[in-house]
Amino acid sequence: MINLGILISGRGSNMESILNFLKSGVTNVCPKVVISSKPEAEGLKKASALGIPTKIVSMELKGWDYDKELVSILQKYDVNPENGLVCLAGYMRLLSPEFVVKYKMRIMNIHPSLLPSFPGLNSQKKAYDYGVKVTGCTVHFVDEGLDSGPIIAQKQVPVLDSDTYETLSERILQQEHILYPYCIKLFSEDKLVVKGRRVIVTL
Ligand code: GRF
Repeated sequence: MINLGILISGRGSNMESILNFLKSGVTNVCPKVVISSKPEAEGLKKASALGIPTKIVSMELKGWDYDKELVSILQKYDVNPENGLVCLAGYMRLLSPEFVVKYKMRIMNIHPSLLPSFPGLNSQKKAYDYGVKVTGCTVHFVDEGLDSGPIIAQKQVPVLDSDTYETLSERILQQEHILYPYCIKLFSEDKLVVKGRRVIVTL
């Protein structure tokens, strides 16, 4: 059994898709807590509506001082490095190296581009403005860098001539909602083997 903690900062649509996926019959992942870095995050209400405990950590601390608070909440809900998975879903803070080391290869993130292209913020807009013909989304393990950890899976999304930045973002988001639950399922079934930068899926 994997105990899941989800970190959010905003809308929480990925969080919601993960929670709905788990409700639909995935029995080896137990969602334990949703933690938001912002009290006004829309995702908090969605998590409560789905019956998941929520917490807010919005204090003005930095780095490990802040992340220590996260760890103490995660541990209170039994999301530990031995049995847990921490999913970042629109979480707008960089994790400290201490946190990353503590939950080594047990933290995932979803990013709205085909990494390593367009890391950081506003990736859909950067891809659209650059004029790429294909973009997409990436789920990766989190390391100490920015959107730089080993890639678990990607989904591509074509950029149509008729696209606006908004329509493109929407189609990427639809794919995110499929990709993230899929990766969590693979993790929970012990099917992900990390070899350096490569993540091998053992089906
Ligand atoms: C998503 O586009 C995700 O890829 C990125 O932040 C956005 C979060 O959206 N990391 P939501 O809060 O899951 O709706």
